[in-house]
Amino acid sequence: MQTKTLEPLFDFATMPSPMLNSNGLTGQDILSVSQFDRDTLSYIFGRAREMREMVERVGGVDLLKGKVLACLFYEPSTRTSSSFIAAMERLGGSVIPITQGVKFSSISKGETLADTIRVLEQYADVIVLRHPEIGSAREAAEAASVPVLNAGDGPGEHPTQALLDLFTIREELGTVDGLKVAMVGDLRYGRTVHSLTKLLLQYNVSLRFVAPEILRLPLKVMNEVIDSGLNVRETHDVADVIENADVLYVTRVQKERFTDLAQYEEVKNYYEITPEIMAMAKKKMVVMHPLPRVGEIHDSVDSDPRAAYFRQVRNGMYIRMALLAAVLGRA
Ligand code: ASP
Ligand code: CP
Repeated sequence: MQTKTLEPLFDFATMPSPMLNSNGLTGQDILSVSQFDRDTLSYIFGRAREMREMVERVGGVDLLKGKVLACLFYEPSTRTSSSFIAAMERLGGSVIPITQGVKFSSISKGETLADTIRVLEQYADVIVLRHPEIGSAREAAEAASVPVLNAGDGPGEHPTQALLDLFTIREELGTVDGLKVAMVGDLRYGRTVHSLTKLLLQYNVSLRFVAPEILRLPLKVMNEVIDSGLNVRETHDVADVIENADVLYVTRVQKERFTDLAQYEEVKNYYEITPEIMAMAKKKMVVMHPLPRVGEIHDSVDSDPRAAYFRQVRNGMYIRMALLAAVLGRA
C-alpha cells in the first residue's frame, strides 16, 4: 500500500519541548510550535509590529550590536535564511552564513551535527538550523549552550514559519478566532502545514484539509486536531472549500521527500489556484503560501489583492527580528 511506504518518515520527536514564557524567552531554544501559548504569541506579535514600525521609520537599530548569529543550513533556502540574516543585520548584529550548501563546510568531511554545533557556539550567540532530519533541531539544542532556532527539520516542523503565517492571518484579517482555514497541497510532508495546524489548535477555527490521498495530513497531527474538538473536514477537492474559506493556505508538493519519484509525478500537478477559482472565493479572504511555489498558484493571481504571499514573506523578517531579540535577552 502506498501509504505504508510513506509512513515511517512521520516519527515525530515525542519529547515535549519546554513551554516558553513571554517574560523569559532569553536563552531559550525554539524547536516546536508546541512551546507557544497565546500570551507568548501575542507578545511576539506585538514585538514584530514594533520591529515593522522601526524598519519603516529608520531601517535598523543597534539592539543586537555585538551579537553573532550562525545560520546553518543543510537544505536549500531563500526566505528563511535571508530573513534571519536581514533580521540580525537590521538589529545591528552580524552573521556567520553557512547557507551555500554545507558542501563548503567541514560537514562535507564527515563532521557530525553535534560537533558542528559545538564549534559554532564558540563563535556565535544563537544558531539557526535547517536540516533534513526530523528531530535534528532538538539534537542540536541538546549539544548547544546557546539558543537553537529550528528553521525546518525535514518533514517535521518549521515553527518560525508558522509564527509568521499566523501573524500574517492576524494582520490581514484582524483576527484568527472564528476563521475557516483551508490547507491545500502536500499536507503529508509539508512541515509548515504541520506547524501551522498545531498552532491554530489554540484558536477557535474551522480546519479544512485538501489533499490527494497520498498527501493527507499525517495521522499523528490529525489526531491532535481531532482531540482539540475543532470543526474539521478532509477532502480531495478545492471546490469543496473555496466558497467558505477565509484563508487558503496553499503548499508545494515536497519532491525532495519522496522515495518513489513516480508517486511524486502522480500528484505534482494536482492543484492550481487560478483566477477562475479565486472568482468563487469570498471577497475578504487571503491566499497564502510559504513559498517557493512551483505551479500551485498561477502568476495571474498575484495581482489579486487577496494574494498575501509576498506580504507574508516580509512579515517573516519582522517575526524573526522579534524572536532574535527575545532569545538574546534584548526584548
Ligand atoms: N519553504 C518551505 C519549507 O522549507 C516550504 C517549501 O519548501 O515548500 O518548508
Ligand atoms: N518558506 C520557506 O521556508 O522558504 P525557504 O525554503 O526559501 O527558506
